[in-house]
Amino acid sequence: MAVRPILRMGDPRLLQAAQPVAQVPSPELAALVQDLRDTMAAANGAGLAAPQIGVGLQVVVFGSGLPNPRYPAAPVVPPTVLVNPVLTPLGGEQALDWEGCLSLPGLRGQVPRWQRLRYQGLDEHGQPIDRTVEGFHARVVQHECDHLWGKLYPMQMTDFSQFGFTDQLFPDLS
Ligand code: NI
Repeated sequence: MAVRPILRMGDPRLLQAAQPVAQVPSPELAALVQDLRDTMAAANGAGLAAPQIGVGLQVVVFGSGLPNPRYPAAPVVPPTVLVNPVLTPLGGEQALDWEGCLSLPGLRGQVPRWQRLRYQGLDEHGQPIDRTVEGFHARVVQHECDHLWGKLYPMQMTDFSQFGFTDQLFPDLS
């Protein structure tokens, strides 16, 4: 339907908690999901959350089913629409790895995340989603759902020596 502008860090709307979607499915939700998909695809994103296009609702999209040019070494994550998510960390183990965000263009940082987690919610048709995942898939879910709680990845970082511009950190990728 439409590629929407992506809000960048500093916009106060990125720091607000998103509201649950009251009715699933709905024509409004279908239109929002299509805009999220179109915007994510146009930016080669691994995921996108509704607050990043200025919509304060608990909706995220992530995954592609294809290798992502921004993360060529990352495992494939199935294309997913997740509404009103609930995340439950499993095992208590954290892992550190690089993340980027379409709201912080050109930057990457090392972010600690739960290595394994269960996530639950609805898809855009109202069908339940209940998955237990680990590694990159778990990382993407945590990053996207953090946008729903008003958190950007630098707010989860512990070592700011591991934060910089992608073309300086990874000259071979640019
Ligand atoms: Ni992000």
